[in-house]
Formats: sequence, structure tokens, C-alpha cells
Amino acid sequence: MAKSFDVVVIGGGPGGYIAAIRAAQLGFATACIDEWKGADGKPALGGTCTNVGCIPSKALLQSSENYEAAGHHFAEHGIKVKGLDLDLATMLKRKDKVVKASNDGVAYLFKKNGIEFFHGRGSFGNSTPQGYEISISEKETILGKNVVVATGSNPRALPGVEFDEKLVLSNTGALSIPDVPKRLGIVGAGIIGLEMGSVWRRLGAEVTILEALPGFLGMAVAKEAAKVFARQGLRIELGVKIASVEKKKTVKVQYTASDSSSKALECDRLIISIGRVPNTEGLNAAGVGLKLDQRGFVEVDEDCRTNLPGVWAIGDVVRGPMLAHKAEEEGVAVAERMAGQKPHVDFNTVPSVIYTTPEIAWVGQTEQQVKTAGVEYRTGSFPFAANARARALGDTTGLVKFISRKDTDEILGVHIIGPFAGELIAEAVVAMEFRGSAEDIGMICHAHPSLSEAMKDAALAVDKRALNI
Ligand code: FAD
Ligand code: NAI
Repeated sequence: MAKSFDVVVIGGGPGGYIAAIRAAQLGFATACIDEWKGADGKPALGGTCTNVGCIPSKALLQSSENYEAAGHHFAEHGIKVKGLDLDLATMLKRKDKVVKASNDGVAYLFKKNGIEFFHGRGSFGNSTPQGYEISISEKETILGKNVVVATGSNPRALPGVEFDEKLVLSNTGALSIPDVPKRLGIVGAGIIGLEMGSVWRRLGAEVTILEALPGFLGMAVAKEAAKVFARQGLRIELGVKIASVEKKKTVKVQYTASDSSSKALECDRLIISIGRVPNTEGLNAAGVGLKLDQRGFVEVDEDCRTNLPGVWAIGDVVRGPMLAHKAEEEGVAVAERMAGQKPHVDFNTVPSVIYTTPEIAWVGQTEQQVKTAGVEYRTGSFPFAANARARALGDTTGLVKFISRKDTDEILGVHIIGPFAGELIAEAVVAMEFRGSAEDIGMICHAHPSLSEAMKDAALAVDKRALNI
């Protein structure tokens, strides 16, 4: 007789492991199946985020930023560095250690919460009156009354160009290049392109990013961002159409530039970061009748219910932004819905952060979106150059911008480019969740000197009464 669970989660990434923890907290007998293997062939819980996504990229962003600071910025503080040397092998090892600690952290949380973990590929079998049969790598079968599909996503390839992770790299290879390439090409100036481009530029590569769209990042502070990246030496060419990618000892990319001329880029390694596709491979979705949409995402309603009773889907494998914290919120919400609660995930208050220098963070709508919606609005901006803490840090690039309704002053969007933007945005998220106004932020006491004072001043600027400019 197959072992039976109230909840079986397929996928142990941030969506799946958080869904499993919340389900266990609510008293459900819970199992989680995940197939990821670490370099040692052992289970490595945490999914894309922990193994080849959020965590290793942030470890390398920090290390490379330290290297750049030691080489270029310490001197202005009166700190002279002689004989600065890059030990890339140690930097990569440190990144692997950070990843391993996070893998172990998830395994610990499973133990603590009494979640049974199965290593292998979860695949739907029959639907029986006792629940869904889920086969684990065809070696054993368990039963789930409720099933949460949290199988994540895979990198999208350029048509006809396979990832070999040596010359043509996905995010996986981009996080483990063993030597700094002299010339690094990147296709796609999205979040991965900018973060990975920043890492390898800081470590000494000449980076060229080829982007299909004529514009750059679709958010309010994009223009400022483009200027800063250009100053740093990140070469970004917009409006290109890739014609071919040829691999020999190097990689040669032929493309049509925005002025319709034919161009070529020769590089030592090429990262392809043109988005990600949902992963439903091996799930046997068709066999069990689980409906996918035209783009291959598991089709869900706004509560993450699929077309099959008792089967839910969350995270990158369903519609919405491909972000770890969005996956986590959906994971918590489905577990609570199983328990009869009525949680709500508000997509409008899911923040986005790009961990470049300066960081870029935003929540809510852009000015363009508000305009298109025909809502009357006001804006207020404040530059970090006028913020005392930013000056003390020596990091005065960027600004905070608030957009609020003209009639009620309710905050509609906040966009930040500057130091610790990814931390500062949390205040805007809280205010928007409480449907706060720009004036509310302006009336709150912020510590001095702190970067958060730029939030207060930008909020006050909506009413043209910023204090420090
Ligand atoms: P995943 O994390 O992809 O996890 C899915 C898991 O399911 C995997 O372990 C997979 O092996 C397993 N699986 C799949 N099919 C099966 C099966 N049939 N049986 C068993 N197991 C299966 N997001 C952020 O919010 N912040 C960031 O800073 C950030 N940085 C990123 C950097 C990079 C380079 C990349 C690639 C992504 C980044 N993301 C970031 C996005 C983030 O990683 C994803 O949004 C997040 O991992 C999605 O979580 P998930 O649980 O839906 O899926
Ligand atoms: P993305 O969607 O952010 O960017 C892809 C870029 O590639 C876009 O600008 C697109 O116009 C461009 N593009 C698409 N096809 C192209 C082509 N043929 N030629 C040239 N350019 C092309 O996707 P990315 O960077 O691959 O990241 C995948 C996902 O991972 C994102 O959705 C993001 O949410 C997530 N992520 C999040 C991070 C964070 O939160 N800090 C960090 C890294 C990734």
C-alpha cells in the first residue's frame, strides 16, 4: 500500500519548500519531492533560486563588488591597496559554500517541520479515490490528497543554439566560469544579463550585451540606469536581431543592428539570458489531464487552482513574474487555502530588485502605466546626492521617485535606483499594502543619517515640500 499524505509538493524550490513548510505548520501530513542533484550527486534542496539563481548570483555580486571597491574606490577613503590580486577559484568556492549552507538550511527546515523528503522525479500516475498517485523516479509511489506543482523554470535557449555551458552559457555556466573571459558576450539585457554582466565586468571582462528591444528595462528609472551602466563600461547595444551564433574556439555572433547594418561580435564566452520557460518535463501532465496554457505554463486561476481538483500550481511554472518571493507567497497561500483560510496575494505589491551597482528596485506602477490607465497623479523625486548618509558612504548615484494619486495621494508606485535600493523598497511595499499615501511616509520619523531619509524626502517632494533640497 502506497504511503499517503495530505499534501505532496513536487519541486523543492522557494515555491515548493515554503508551501511544504506552511502546510506542515497547518497540521497536514506533508511530503516534498525534488530531483536536484548537487555537484556531489547528493540532493540539493532549494531549486533554481538556491543552486543556480538568487543565492549564487548574489554571492558573486558581493565578491566582485568588494574586488572593484578595493581596486577603485578604497583610495578615495585614504586606503591604499598594493598587490591586489584576484583569486577566482576561492571566490567561486565561497559562492559554492554559500549555496551549500542554503541547501542544508532547507533540509533542516524539512526535518524541523516533520516534512518527508523524497529525492527523485515526481510524476503523476492515476487519480484514485484516495488521492493522486505520484511516482518517484518510477522507483516508488506515494499518494497525495492535495498536490502542489512547483516545478519551476528552465533557461530559454536561442533557437538552434544549445547551451554547452563552456562557450555558450545559461545562468548555470555563467555562475561558474573558471577564468575571467577577456571578451564576454551576453544576449539579453534583462535582469540576468545585467547582474552577470556586472559580475564579470568588475572582475575584468570586456562585456557587450546585445538586446532585442529598442528600449532598456521597462521601469521608471531606466534612463538613469542606462547612463550609469554605460559609465561603468558595460556596453549595451539595443534593438539588435541575432542572425547566427557560430562556435569554434571562440563564439561569433552575427546580428543586425538597430540601423539595419550587419555586425559581428566575437567573444570568448557567450551568456544567453533571454528569459525562462516553465518546466513541466516528466510530470506526465498530459497523462493525468493537467491543463497547460499555450506557452506551456500550468494553467491556474488567481488562487493557483489548476483544472484538476486538489491540484495546485505555483511559482515559475505558472503565470506572473518569475521571482522567488512571488513563488513563496503563492506557496503560503495555497497551503492556507487547503486549510480553508482566505489568503490573498497582491501582484501589485510584489517588489522587483536588480542587484547591480547601483541597485534598482521598484514596486507598483510606472508613470507610463498610470498615464495609460487615465489616472491623475503627482510625482516626487529625491536624489541620493542630497542625502547625508549616501555622501558618507561615497555612493550618491541615483534617486527615489514616488507616484501617487492626485485626488487621494495613495501611493501607486515607487522606483529607486541607488545604494541599498533593494532594502529601501520594503518601506514602499508596506505603505502600499496598507494603502498608505505619500504624505504618510513624509510624516514618519526616519533615522538620521540614513538612506531611508531619501524615501521621506521623495514622498514630501510629491507635495513640493522636500526638506533637504
Ligand atoms: P525553482 O526554484 O525552479 O524550483 C523548482 C524545483 O523543482 C527544482 O529543484 C527542480 O529540480 C524541481 N523539479 C522540477 N520538476 C520536478 C519533478 N518532476 N520532480 C521533482 N522535482 C522537480 N528571483 C528573485 O526573487 N530574486 C533574485 O535575486 C533572483 N535571482 C535569480 C538569478 C538567476 C541567475 C536566476 C536564473 C533566477 C533568479 N531569480 C531570482 C528567479 C528565481 O530563481 C525563481 O523565480 C525561483 O527559483 C522560482 O521558484 P520555484 O519554486 O517556482 O522554482
Ligand atoms: P528577462 O526577461 O529579465 O530578460 C530577458 C531579456 O532578453 C529581455 O530584455 C528581452 O527583451 C531580451 N531578449 C529576448 N529575446 C532576445 C533575443 N532573441 N535577442 C536579444 N535579446 C532578447 O530574463 P532573464 O534575464 O533571462 O531572467 C529570467 C528570469 O529570472 C526573469 O524573469 C527574472 O524575473 C528572474 N531573475 C530575477 C532576478 C532578481 O530578482 N534580481 C535576477 C535574475 C533573474
